[in-house]
Amino acid sequence: MTGRGPGPDGIALEARGLRKAFGGVQAVDGCSFAVPRGKICGLIGPNGSGKTTTFNLLTGLAQPDEGQVLHDGVDIAGLRPHLVFRRGITRTFQITRVFREMTVLENMLSVIGLAVPDRVARERAEELIALVKLGHLRGEYGGRLSYGQQKLLEFARALMTDPEVILLDEPAAGVNRTLLQHLLEQIHRLQEAGKTILIVEHDMNVIMNHCERIFVMDYGVKIAEGAPAEIQADDRVIEAYFGRRRRTGAVHAA
Ligand SMILES: Nc1ncnc2c1ncn2[C@@H]1O[C@H](COP(=O)(O)OP(=O)(O)O)[C@@H](O)[C@H]1O
Ligand SMILES: [Mg+2]
Repeated sequence: MTGRGPGPDGIALEARGLRKAFGGVQAVDGCSFAVPRGKICGLIGPNGSGKTTTFNLLTGLAQPDEGQVLHDGVDIAGLRPHLVFRRGITRTFQITRVFREMTVLENMLSVIGLAVPDRVARERAEELIALVKLGHLRGEYGGRLSYGQQKLLEFARALMTDPEVILLDEPAAGVNRTLLQHLLEQIHRLQEAGKTILIVEHDMNVIMNHCERIFVMDYGVKIAEGAPAEIQADDRVIEAYFGRRRRTGAVHAA
């Protein structure tokens, strides 16, 4: 792998002036933010504000019309997804991409680019399955898992290659309270191990209680950035969530 190593400024991943349109829809409209290395950050915003598209731009699933994606100071915008992945950046999906006709264990082993012997991969898969408490379902087909279980499986699968940067798109959706608590502990453990984590999430308790820094998007641009307390008190953020348009979801954690 090339291009690894510490960035010049403690920034793991940076979006610079990203723009992406789909037909007449400007999904991302000049979005910039920098994710500090080794931190848990949140990316929030009302439905349709461009969060998932931003994740797609960061991970090579969509090509930006304009702008840069800097990883360790190198522009990786437009790089194919598997090459982004090879740089140690991995993600989960809002709509899970679990293989329905594969078992939980097979899903884990389906990760490409695992540069370890089969036996080691298998051991790692078993460990990670246990970590997300899906051990009892290791032989179950992906298609038979609940949505929440699929989210946990994707999270576990994302860890197979020991990535440096982990992007999670709504990891808490459909996950029950107990498992969510467990998932959050795992996310903190990853951080303690030096990983960088960026979370898109509608559950404001998750965002406000677990992210050090939060980026807020609306209409494809970043409208605010700061610590949880700053974000909760930010007029533009409150306006985006409660103003002009009728929305679901509140910005305040319970
Ligand atoms: N593949 C696509 N084709 C057309 N429009 C899209 C596509 N992906 C996203 N959009 C539109 O771009 C905007 C931002 O979507 P998205 O990034 O999914 O927002 P979020 O994740 O914040 O809910 C929305 O208006 C959405 O309908
Ligand atoms: Mg989304």
